[in-house]
Amino acid sequence: MTHHDYSGQVVLITGAGSGFGRLAAAAFADAGAELILSDQNPDALQDTLSLHGLSEDHVLAQRCDVSSASDVEAMVEAGISRFGRLDVAINNAGIGHELKRLTDLDEAAFDRNIAVNLKGVFLCMRAELPQMVAQGGGAILNVSSVAGLLGAPMMAAYSAAKHGVIGLTKTAALEYAKKGIRVNALCPAFSRTPILDPLAQSGRGNTLENMARAIPLGRLGEPAEIVQAMLWACSRDNGFLTGQAITLDGGMSAG
Ligand SMILES: NC(=O)c1ccc[n+]([C@@H]2O[C@H](COP(=O)([O-])OP(=O)(O)OC[C@H]3O[C@@H](n4cnc5c(N)ncnc54)[C@H](O)[C@@H]3O)[C@@H](O)[C@H]2O)c1
Repeated sequence: MTHHDYSGQVVLITGAGSGFGRLAAAAFADAGAELILSDQNPDALQDTLSLHGLSEDHVLAQRCDVSSASDVEAMVEAGISRFGRLDVAINNAGIGHELKRLTDLDEAAFDRNIAVNLKGVFLCMRAELPQMVAQGGGAILNVSSVAGLLGAPMMAAYSAAKHGVIGLTKTAALEYAKKGIRVNALCPAFSRTPILDPLAQSGRGNTLENMARAIPLGRLGEPAEIVQAMLWACSRDNGFLTGQAITLDGGMSAG
């Protein structure tokens, strides 16, 4: 990965117990950041620390369900009281749902998806922004999806939530631009993380091979490619980038 220097910066990552969030934790640590890591699954979070040899001297690891306002507020507060600042926040935690046509999608699944994928991003930004305002700047990156730009058959709640994340992102970018805070969204297409497992196992022909075929480059995204974009988007060198939905989709949305 291209080197970016995050020394002296505090970086918060939600959903750091797996996939993009886990690899991002390792990459930002390598780049010198102090980390506030959270996940709803505390064991998975601990595995991130041990797998990547992250020292608790530079990491605060806290269980947090992003759909809970009190969990989110407690996590952000604990991070700020530990490190005294917050420079970058990657609001990455997210879930899929069973592949179902809209008329078959039950209300509880719809509500849970919106609660985690959309309200979670709102709650995180609401808790993170005041510290960044107080410091006079910061960068937020919300993980949306190519399903936040395009319809996603059989994934109505997910697509709606991820479209909503882009609306929240653009609005926050405009509201906080004068405070020196940049807010962007990242829109990956299918990438090789555990979130794809239930889709691939759903028996609806959604194999990893078929997902790859839907991508013009003919392959899935690699988590390292997504994390590289996180490092780039949040870097202080990238000070003119705000309000954007940054798309990493192997060309999917070009057609
Ligand atoms: N992998 C892909 O193909 C892909 C494509 C587009 C967007 N995304 C998005 O990227 C983000 C990361 O996904 P991933 O692929 O790394 O998936 P993943 O399943 O590997 O990791 C997601 C992590 O989020 C955590 N999480 C789930 N619900 C949570 C909650 N309520 N509170 C806190 N943590 C919670 C999980 O425990 C898990 O550790 C998600 O927002 C996802 O929608 C992924």
